[in-house]
Amino acid sequence: MRNTIIAGNWKMNTNRSSSIALADAIVDGLRAEHLGDNLDIVLCPPFVFIPLVGERIRGGRIRLGAQTMNNEPSGAFTGEVSGEMLRSVDCAYVIVGHSERRTMFAESDLDVCYRVNAAQEVGLSPIICVGETIVEREKGLMREVVERQVRTALDGILEFAARTCAIAYEPIWAIGTGENATPEQIEEAHGFIREIIGQIYTPEVAEDIPILYGGSMNAGNAASILARPGVDGGLIGGASLDAASFVSIVRAAASR
Ligand code: 13P
Repeated sequence: MRNTIIAGNWKMNTNRSSSIALADAIVDGLRAEHLGDNLDIVLCPPFVFIPLVGERIRGGRIRLGAQTMNNEPSGAFTGEVSGEMLRSVDCAYVIVGHSERRTMFAESDLDVCYRVNAAQEVGLSPIICVGETIVEREKGLMREVVERQVRTALDGILEFAARTCAIAYEPIWAIGTGENATPEQIEEAHGFIREIIGQIYTPEVAEDIPILYGGSMNAGNAASILARPGVDGGLIGGASLDAASFVSIVRAAASR
């Protein structure tokens, strides 16, 4: 039985005081909620605020994640952060291959695979992002692009390690645009991703891996997206910076 995951990707937002205030407001907002056992709530603040947010959520249901990591364990990699470092500040999850990393920081499909490998070696659960551009979608290339991204990210990853991963389908044209993919488009892409994972491993493994949707998910559309078969949660950008919106998305996930 796969878990539902609602993860907030704060991207390069907040500062010391607003990250604390946001974490506190989310903790407060979720206090009275009945969340059930199969729901993971994850906050992914900027690196520097991870320990601060960790202090605010200590002892509760919310878990910590990072927005990326380097695949090297340590060494002369100025500006980079390793999986070991993230574990040492209590991260449980790490986002890898976000489209903003791929497009703005030149991370290749293979880089994503190295990061998946390094993450699971230190006990972090990777949330692997995949998704097509608008041009690719209009050319009918969604399946081709997503298949390449999923297959390369999981290349050489053994079954037990794959079971620690989640996939996030984030069509690039829906990120930060206010234009979310339709529930039908999301259901199709998720079904396709599960089919690919089933081919790489087995259909049973594919059934156990959560597939999240990301791209302009908000308090208003979360319930209808999360109601679709094969949608196991969300990776939320903009709406995760507003405690009330994030709490409503978590509530929608808990009550489905
Ligand atoms: P938005 O929710 O702001 O569209 O961002 C989605 C995203 O990129 C999450 O990783």
